[in-house]
Amino acid sequence: MSNIKIAPSIVSADLGRLAEEVRECEAAGASYIHIDVMDGRFVPAITIGWPVVEAIRRATDLTLDIHLMVVEPEKQIGRFIDAGGDIINVHVEAATHPHRIVQEVHGRDLRAGVCLNPGTPVTALDSLLPEIDQVMVMSVNPGASGQKFIESAIGKVEHFRREIDANGYAAEIEVDGGVTAGNAPRCAAAGADVLVAASAIFNERASITENIRGLQDSIAALKT
Ligand code: DX5
Ligand code: ZN
Repeated sequence: MSNIKIAPSIVSADLGRLAEEVRECEAAGASYIHIDVMDGRFVPAITIGWPVVEAIRRATDLTLDIHLMVVEPEKQIGRFIDAGGDIINVHVEAATHPHRIVQEVHGRDLRAGVCLNPGTPVTALDSLLPEIDQVMVMSVNPGASGQKFIESAIGKVEHFRREIDANGYAAEIEVDGGVTAGNAPRCAAAGADVLVAASAIFNERASITENIRGLQDSIAALKT
């Protein structure tokens, strides 16, 4: 099995059976549960708030990867930390003081991630990359699941892989949006550590377990 982590995004789960769906992800070998928080301002949709994060926390011991697609994330991070988040990811486009947020998250002994929209150049993270635990390369424009993978994300992953390896930084690289068994091997080859997937896991016709295994197998096949 490859060591790429799979992070099912529960935005496409059956929310009426959320605890069961999360437990199935865990049993199938998912590493994180990815939680897409949308505020109706940074992106048009409104999805999940901290009470749902608390409920997921009760359902699983997996790492909760909180993706804050919200304006003024500095006002929200405390609630999501209290609710049980493990990795707190904020958009560099939304945060006026992303470095301060990273310091705050580290002050609570949690992992800090920074997300980059498809239209944002990699240089936007030059100063933050040495400090953070995760860089999230968005391979769709944030706001909805089920969109097509944007290929320029691959080049960004390759860039961050080179920078991280050359400098010995700790950050892991996560790819979010449009990930399928078809493009997962290319994300892995480019140097991704974590792949987020919503529709490929919850909306495909096979079971959650088969879909997670399908992603893992497609990556493993590339590596052998
Ligand atoms: C996009 C979210 C993603 C998305 C993934 O705004 O951050 O996590 O829901 O969905 P798929 O895998 O369907 O592109
Ligand atoms: Zn996400």
